[in-house]
Amino acid sequence: MVQTRCETPFERGPQLCSHCRTGTGEPGLRRCSRLVAASPAMRALLDRAVPIAEADAPVVLFGETGAGKEVLARAIHANSSRRAKPFVAVNVAALPAELLESELFGHVKGAFTGALSSKRGLFEEADGGSLLLDEIGEMPLALQAKLLRVLQDGEVRRVGEVRPFSVDVRILCATHRDLRQAVRLHRFREDLYYRLKVFALTVPPLRERREDLEPLARMFLQGEGHASGELTAAARRTLETYRWPGNVRELVNAMRHGAALSRGGPVDVGHLPDDVVHPLARPVGDEPLRPLAEVEREHVVRVLEACGGRQGDAARVLGIGRTTLWRKLRGLGLEAAD
Ligand SMILES: Nc1ncnc2c1ncn2[C@@H]1O[C@H](COP(=O)(O)OP(=O)(O)OP(=O)(O)O)[C@@H](O)[C@H]1O
Ligand SMILES: [Mg+2]
Repeated sequence: MVQTRCETPFERGPQLCSHCRTGTGEPGLRRCSRLVAASPAMRALLDRAVPIAEADAPVVLFGETGAGKEVLARAIHANSSRRAKPFVAVNVAALPAELLESELFGHVKGAFTGALSSKRGLFEEADGGSLLLDEIGEMPLALQAKLLRVLQDGEVRRVGEVRPFSVDVRILCATHRDLRQAVRLHRFREDLYYRLKVFALTVPPLRERREDLEPLARMFLQGEGHASGELTAAARRTLETYRWPGNVRELVNAMRHGAALSRGGPVDVGHLPDDVVHPLARPVGDEPLRPLAEVEREHVVRVLEACGGRQGDAARVLGIGRTTLWRKLRGLGLEAAD
């Protein structure tokens, strides 16, 4: 789970990292984290990130999928006093609740079926360093309560163990969700939200930082063994007009495609993926398409709030019967919310 990256100190000013040759030496940051920041938006973000990196408190990183939240988390760790200790990242959304608990806190032998031996948790692995909880918005409520306790007491307890022990871990979190909205919808604990959100940073989407496109594209091409990293003017224009819904991760893949098809020559339009060259027309508005249940839940909460929590009024506004609304609230796990 622990991944190492280039974290070479910069001796002075903006420069190419003398070690991995890919960092661009952003102003402010003292260590390379292979993080490209040529655009005003990214530079402003890093200006804010530097003092935050040095402060030893939790940080929440917001941003669209693939925008670079994890790279920023690594840069924060690399520029913090914890840099010599581990950086551990875990995707909270990727594991079922029970597994996640033993992954985070560890377990003792025999704690549950299949626990054939004791196991250290990620909090222990990250001791002295930083732990990135990716997709924190997806953390089950029961685990949120346990995480809150760890933050309050500085202690963790392995699953099946009675005695807690102390750990010293800086929590970094990332999410593509609006956590305040999740709090309103009773999906995220309000007390945990305020504990975690001591500092907040938002990574802007790639379409809002065109100046980063070319340096990123070159870096990724060279990473794929394309020596010159060169793109034709037409290819550069194509990259600039595309919206990059998958952000930097999508650009990484597009450059993998470009490097393979161009066979070392300049990357031209024809070497780019079809999705980038012929993007589908976007649906009306910029909203991502979401499941009906999620939209329904938000709408019901909005109407209830507007009606001061009076279910009779809310049912009238929604055009449904009181009993139907009551049943809906129960189905959405919102009956306690009124
Ligand atoms: N500014 C950057 N400089 C260099 N590489 C970057 C930058 N931003 C993102 N990347 C690269 O783009 C890819 C996606 O970045 P990252 O994993 O940090 O995104 P994310 O916001 O955490 O995505 P997700 O929401 O899917 O978890 C990675 O390969 C990362 O190395
Ligand atoms: Mg991530």
